[in-house]
Amino acid sequence: MTAGKPFSQACENNKQVILEKLATVFSQPGTVLEIGTGTGQHAVHFAGNLSHLTWQPSDHPSNYQLCEPWLTEARLPNINKPLALDVSVEEWQLPRINGVFSANTSHIMSWPEVEAMFRGVSANLQPNEAFCLYGPFNYNGQFTSASNQQFDAHLRQQNPAMGIRDMNDLKRISNENKLFLDSDFEMPANNRLLVWRKCETDSD
Ligand SMILES: C[S@@+](CC[C@H](N)C(=O)[O-])C[C@H]1O[C@@H](n2cnc3c(N)ncnc32)[C@H](O)[C@@H]1O
Repeated sequence: MTAGKPFSQACENNKQVILEKLATVFSQPGTVLEIGTGTGQHAVHFAGNLSHLTWQPSDHPSNYQLCEPWLTEARLPNINKPLALDVSVEEWQLPRINGVFSANTSHIMSWPEVEAMFRGVSANLQPNEAFCLYGPFNYNGQFTSASNQQFDAHLRQQNPAMGIRDMNDLKRISNENKLFLDSDFEMPANNRLLVWRKCETDSD
């Protein structure tokens, strides 16, 4: 535990490998919205290493101030103040954004919230802009590892609305929201980095 700051060991373990992917996806200057920022460790690492970006942290209104200690200590000029954003509200009150990143949120949110996240992301992106979603995912109803299966059982025991999402379901809601899967990167510890992009036209 880092004194005075919330701390996630998982963030420390995965932040560098995620950064390497984000550097290629978000290679142009712009503002990236982070959904479900949590402790702020990702925000500080990514903004600190991707100085061409403006990082916009956000989290549920009950949790959005959790990241303040990390942000305050880092004093980075390219991180905005965190926004209170519940993905399930109808209209997201945001500045213009050019990309979205979210880690380990889709298995914590209920399914209606995941649907709302895709809806809100799509409404706020322009054609070809990217939504990077990191975490564990299932394929054709199958877990990709025994540890993911155990994690899913643990989540559902805590709250039946939580659980690892299936790619078929995510592809269905992405299609409904004019987002397409551009890349699906294998990441350490049975995680994936999914890159969705806003379709060029309504007919894409
Ligand atoms: C497991 S934590 C992940 C935090 C961080 N991204 C990470 O990788 O460590 C899940 C996050 O999702 C956020 N979250 C849950 N429901 C949400 C909602 N409806 N809208 C926005 N964020 C939500 C939680 O507040 C929490 O910060």
